[in-house]
Amino acid sequence: MSFQIALNFEDGITRFVECRPDETVAEASYKARINIPLDCRDGACGTCKSRCESGSYDGGDYIDEALTDDEAEQGYCLPCQMTPHSDLVLRIPSSSAAAKTSAATFGATLAGIRHHSPSTVEFTLDADERDGLDFLPGQYVNIAVPGTGQSRSYSMSSGPTQRQLSFLVRTVPGGAMSGYLTERARPGDRLEFTGPMGSFYLRQLARPMLLLAGGTGLAPLLSMLERMAQQPVGHPVRLLYGVTGDQDLVHLDTLADYAEVIPSFTFEHCVADAASSARNKGFVTGLIDSSTLHDGDVDIYLCGPPAMVDAVRGHITSLGVIPASFHYERFTPAAVHETAEAA
Ligand code: FES
Repeated sequence: MSFQIALNFEDGITRFVECRPDETVAEASYKARINIPLDCRDGACGTCKSRCESGSYDGGDYIDEALTDDEAEQGYCLPCQMTPHSDLVLRIPSSSAAAKTSAATFGATLAGIRHHSPSTVEFTLDADERDGLDFLPGQYVNIAVPGTGQSRSYSMSSGPTQRQLSFLVRTVPGGAMSGYLTERARPGDRLEFTGPMGSFYLRQLARPMLLLAGGTGLAPLLSMLERMAQQPVGHPVRLLYGVTGDQDLVHLDTLADYAEVIPSFTFEHCVADAASSARNKGFVTGLIDSSTLHDGDVDIYLCGPPAMVDAVRGHITSLGVIPASFHYERFTPAAVHETAEAA
């Protein structure tokens, strides 16, 4: 028996290692040829200090100079001493290059394309080495756009255990991936991607959650919901989904399906276009009130274009609420991701 340890590096690259319950995370990483920061390997220096974002473990033996009780309380840990009791997600305080590792590259075959509307395309990939590809729900990969020499970043909308990888793309005039998907792409095309990457991923389900999606920013949240559908969810999960026009709305049926499977999950959508037939017109900020924020006892995950991310952050601040955690990812029309956290 072994557990899966996700090592998320400062540059967003994530590697996964298998770790037995009787070995330390550092030993498992070393066996996988990943050199996480280490010095004493004895719980004395603190060089390996990392943050555990999900999972349970035995912290092992160490001295206060290496890790204080306060730090341990906050989730910091020492990989040279810790042994897992479950799958873990660790944030490692170094770049992947410093750890002598890098993002993995995968070949894939284009399995399908679905044109939801003139603004939104979905495509699916069959990865060649699917069993060797692990990712955390919410993460993205960099996909080389065939025939262009360019690559674009897209979050998986599929869950980590689903065989096919799915992506949502907002089409933009002149866009590299937009042009490929709308003009040239055919099932059976060969593609290449690297990853997984990003620190916008689902953490431990510790309190009520508020998921906020703008347009195709719904993709990583669908991946998170897919994960939640496979485990008990003991807290309310609310998703607010905003788009510009009716044609941008996708996967409302999928969200309804998740509401059937995850009893504590509810969702609402809104459309900015005043001519929309949607019940809620305007922006997601109009749907955020004190009840959705649980007086701050809430983990917020927000993915959307920069203007939406800034508007939501400003709105929540104006309500005087400080959420327990706030994870957000902005994407630009060129599908460049910027992931951050605000507490
Ligand atoms: Fe020194 Fe872990 S390497 S405490």
